[in-house]
Amino acid sequence: VTPGHRDPDSTDDEPRPAPAWDEVLAAARHDDGPSRVCDLLRVCETVITRAGLSGFNSMGSPRKDAQALVYETLAIRDHSDRFLDAVVTSVERAAILDLLERRVAGPIPVPYLTGQAFFAGRRFFVRAGVFIPRSALGYLLDEVLGAVAWSATPRLLEVGCGTGALGISIAVRAPGVHADLVDIDPLAVQVANENIARHGLADRVRSSVSDMYAGVDATARYDLIVANLPYVPDVQIGRTNREIEGEPQSAIYRPGDGLDHVRAVLADAALHLADTGLLVLEVGTFNRTGVQELVSGRGRWWTVGNQEAGVLSITRDELKA
Ligand SMILES: C[S@@+](CC[C@H](N)C(=O)[O-])C[C@H]1O[C@@H](n2cnc3c(N)ncnc32)[C@H](O)[C@@H]1O
Repeated sequence: VTPGHRDPDSTDDEPRPAPAWDEVLAAARHDDGPSRVCDLLRVCETVITRAGLSGFNSMGSPRKDAQALVYETLAIRDHSDRFLDAVVTSVERAAILDLLERRVAGPIPVPYLTGQAFFAGRRFFVRAGVFIPRSALGYLLDEVLGAVAWSATPRLLEVGCGTGALGISIAVRAPGVHADLVDIDPLAVQVANENIARHGLADRVRSSVSDMYAGVDATARYDLIVANLPYVPDVQIGRTNREIEGEPQSAIYRPGDGLDHVRAVLADAALHLADTGLLVLEVGTFNRTGVQELVSGRGRWWTVGNQEAGVLSITRDELKA
């Protein structure tokens, strides 16, 4: 064949399928496989991406998943790139690749593998069976707290606290606040208590089991009530992203239109709020119309940048109007 001319029978130019995630992983286990931190980061990110996982309920992206798998295994807590060229020992490499395999084959979100989740810039314990903290509210904390009229004895209630990440993040930002974090799930309350201790807040934050407001001190009046309760209609079970399937259904789904818990938290909020109190709910962007009807168009809807956050705040006065 004359150089520059294609052999019509040649298949050289046909696109070859990219190696599948399990091929990349198997090759990485060879003796001459990746040996530096940067190599392991690259392999982890490629394997997670090739497996079709977005990481949305994990660390947020394949890249962040890769960083968490590598750096948590190497006990580098700040996930910074200080050690990109550092050599990873064979035993460390095997441990990282074992976690990677579990991440993808499950799929299991990284926080369930490492026991560590990150929310609003802080680190929280989490374990399988408890919702992995993530909420648009995490990006709005300072703005939302600016809208709270704290009393002389400031109090916060979180209904459906999961790991406690949201309530604890607020308590850290509002140093005088006493907070009650409740959840119907005893495992969530146990994890929340571990996080309260981890953040050194046991003197002013406590967590207990409660079905909505049922176990909440009826005489307490809260300046702020926050809730990110389950609000996805259960017809969506099995139809949403498969990555979500490892999380507890009771933390995500509700029957019918998905809004019974949102109705319940709205209905009795005025009984538990101080006169100038504020209720802040994450309800998901797709529920905005339904929730707007429930509150007769009152309240304020928040945005993160120019994106709708699916977060409503409403004062006690507006709730009673
Ligand atoms: C979407 S998760 C949110 C957890 C946490 N607020 C966060 O943002 O990470 C919803 C939480 O509400 C809890 N929950 C569900 N039904 C509840 C109820 N009837 N009373 C109190 N908590 C409930 C679940 O156990 C779960 O921990």
